[in-house]
Amino acid sequence: MSTQPIVMSGIRSTGFLHLGNYFGAIRNYVRMQDEFECYFMVADLHTLTTHPDTAQLKHNVHRVLAENIACGLDPDKVALYCQSHIRETSELYLYLNMLAYKGELEKTTTFKDKVRLQPENVNAGLLTYPVLQAADILLHRASLVPVGKDQEQHLEMARNFANRFNHRYGPIFPEPMAFNYGTELVKVPALDGSGKMSKSENQHATLYLADSDEDIRKKIKKMKTDGGPTEPGTPKPDYIQSIFLLMQLVSPSEAIQKFEEDYNNCSIRYGDMKERLAQDMIRFIAPIREKVNQIMADETYLSNIMEKGAQKARKSAQATMEMVRKAMGLVYYP
Ligand code: TYM
Repeated sequence: MSTQPIVMSGIRSTGFLHLGNYFGAIRNYVRMQDEFECYFMVADLHTLTTHPDTAQLKHNVHRVLAENIACGLDPDKVALYCQSHIRETSELYLYLNMLAYKGELEKTTTFKDKVRLQPENVNAGLLTYPVLQAADILLHRASLVPVGKDQEQHLEMARNFANRFNHRYGPIFPEPMAFNYGTELVKVPALDGSGKMSKSENQHATLYLADSDEDIRKKIKKMKTDGGPTEPGTPKPDYIQSIFLLMQLVSPSEAIQKFEEDYNNCSIRYGDMKERLAQDMIRFIAPIREKVNQIMADETYLSNIMEKGAQKARKSAQATMEMVRKAMGLVYYP
């Protein structure tokens, strides 16, 4: 077993990437690519659990790849690939399904959320979503998985499946851990304070890496505020906390400190604060947006990247699957 930790993560191709995807996941990828062996993929198969219409799939897969590259991922340093190009994933998914129990899958928070959101399509792929995710990770025997807070439970399940496999068939898989360079996993809140930013739900409360300057300004302007604190030491309501949190992601520390002081001495002007946040957000998002557009224009470049990434990922997947089949006693010839 390799002693150097291997890194793996993925993003579904369900729509435009947003600030949560960047600060929860991609920011870590970009730093990890210089320190570890990394496998990063577009999870097009997971996408089918909620988006069975494939008319836009190719375009969306290209977009996620382009957005990853525009954010700083270097396809020469990492394996950047598409999930469905690695057929070994489906084989491992099948074996792991025998080690996953119906009860634990039904209790998964994301499954319960999806059942609420799409009661007309509660398919088995949705139920076994965490098993496919575990297969993605274990296929490379990865132990570090950079993800946002919302993926914590899926990672815990991946650890359980890995441990069950190791216990039954022998020690093949390291225990995968959710990873973030800070102290805790990140959750970027929705602009209206109603949970987290999300690719396909609640779009007016999400800042996308593709948003125009005008959209960014409008969305931030609409964020809820109030008349401000009237007594020093007043705790911040959630919706105000969210504005500060977004500032911490994109604004310089002097600006944050100024608004913290204004809040504490009850002189804060939320209009000014939101204007400052909008400026800093535009400064952060605009260059990424422009770069994505340039990369998207070159389909051949994107196809080549995907093919090169798949070759690298396949090599690692095939090595793991040989070990897996042998450990499971599925090799019947001498
Ligand atoms: P997906 O496409 O929903 O999200 C991609 C990444 O973005 C993070 N993220 C957030 N982080 C902070 N705040 C938010 N508001 C926010 N919204 C999304 C997610 O935590 C994730 O890291 N199941 C995965 C895809 C996947 C995968 C894998 C991940 C498939 N196979 C193997 C890791 C390893 C997902 O739904 O990602």
